[in-house]
Amino acid sequence: MRVCWVERGGVLDIVPAMTETTPDSLAGTRGLPAPRISRPELTRIIAMCNQKGGVGKTTTTINLAGALAEHGRRVLLCDCDPQGNATSSFKVPMLDDDKGPTQATVVIDMSDPHELVAKTRVENIDVLPASMDMAFLPSRLRETGSANQFYARMLGHFQGEYDDILLDMRPALDTDTDSQTAAATAAIIMVDVDEWAMKAVKMQVAQHKKIMTAMGRPVDDLDILGMVIGRVMKPMGDFDSAVYKQLRNHPRIPLLGEIPVRSADLKESRNKGLPVVFYRPKTDTAGFFRTIASNAKLVTAA
Ligand SMILES: Nc1ncnc2c1ncn2[C@@H]1O[C@H](COP(=O)(O)OP(=O)(O)OP(=O)(O)O)[C@@H](O)[C@H]1O
Ligand SMILES: [Mg+2]
Repeated sequence: MRVCWVERGGVLDIVPAMTETTPDSLAGTRGLPAPRISRPELTRIIAMCNQKGGVGKTTTTINLAGALAEHGRRVLLCDCDPQGNATSSFKVPMLDDDKGPTQATVVIDMSDPHELVAKTRVENIDVLPASMDMAFLPSRLRETGSANQFYARMLGHFQGEYDDILLDMRPALDTDTDSQTAAATAAIIMVDVDEWAMKAVKMQVAQHKKIMTAMGRPVDDLDILGMVIGRVMKPMGDFDSAVYKQLRNHPRIPLLGEIPVRSADLKESRNKGLPVVFYRPKTDTAGFFRTIASNAKLVTAA
C-alpha cells in the first residue's frame, strides 16, 4: 500500500496515497513496517559541517536524515551543537546534566550513550540530543590532551546499529568539532552564497586535513562527499553571482545540490517535528534533499 501523511485537525495521520508519486518509504513511519534493505557492516558517520554559522547545516541535516530514512536507512542524528536546534526540530527534549547523563558526560566519561537516544516521529530516525553542558565540552576535551579520540569512542557504541550517523556540527573549529571530525568517515560541507564562503570552505578542508594527519589516517580517508549551497536566493546581484559560480565550480569539491529559500515548507515541517520529505513529500523542497542524498551516493535514486 502506498501511504501519505495528511493533517486532520492538527493531528498527522497516514492514509493511502492518491498518486503514484508518494514514496513507498513512508511505510517506515508511525508503526508501519520499515522497508527491508541490506545492511552494511559498517555504519557511515557523516560530518555535516562548516565553521561558518547560519549556512543551513542543521536544516540540511534534518532533511537529509528524512531523505535517507525514506529509503529505509536507519539514521541516528547526533546533535553536536549545544544550541540544540536539530534536537528541537524533532520535538525531542534537550538533555539536562542536573537530571542525568548527557551527550557531554558520555563523551568525557566514555560511558554507553544508548540510554540517551530518543525516538522521533519517523521510525527510521533516532536522535542523540544535545545539552547545554556541551558548551563546556571544548575545554573539557582540551584538558584530556587527546580530544580527537573521544567522539569516535562514543559513537563506536552504535557501530552496526545504524546505517548512517549524521553529525550536525556547530559552527566552530575547536576541540569538539575536531573530535567529531576524527570520528567521521565522510563529510558534507554546507555553504551559503556569501563573500566569505570560499574562505570558510578552505578553513574547513584544512581542519579535515589536520585531523586526518593527527589521527595517522590518509588525508582522503575522510571522504568529502561534496558541497551543498543553502538558502539560495535568485535573482542575485553581480557580486553574489560571481561567488555562486565559484562555489558551483569548485575545483575539488563536487556540488551535491542547492536549496533555494523555502521558508514555508521548511518551517512548517519542522514545526511538526518531521523532515520535509515526510510532511510535504511532493514539494520541490522535498526534492532538493532527495537530490542531495542521491548525488552524494548515499541512496540509490529510484
Ligand atoms: N533553504 C532555506 N530556506 C529558508 N530558510 C532557511 C533555509 N535554510 C536555512 N534556513 C533558515 O536559516 C536559519 C539558519 O539555518 P540553519 O540553522 O540550518 O543553519 P546552521 O548552519 O545550522 O546554523 P548554525 O551555524 O547556527 O548551526 C534558520 O532560521 C533556518 O530556518
Ligand atoms: Mg546548526
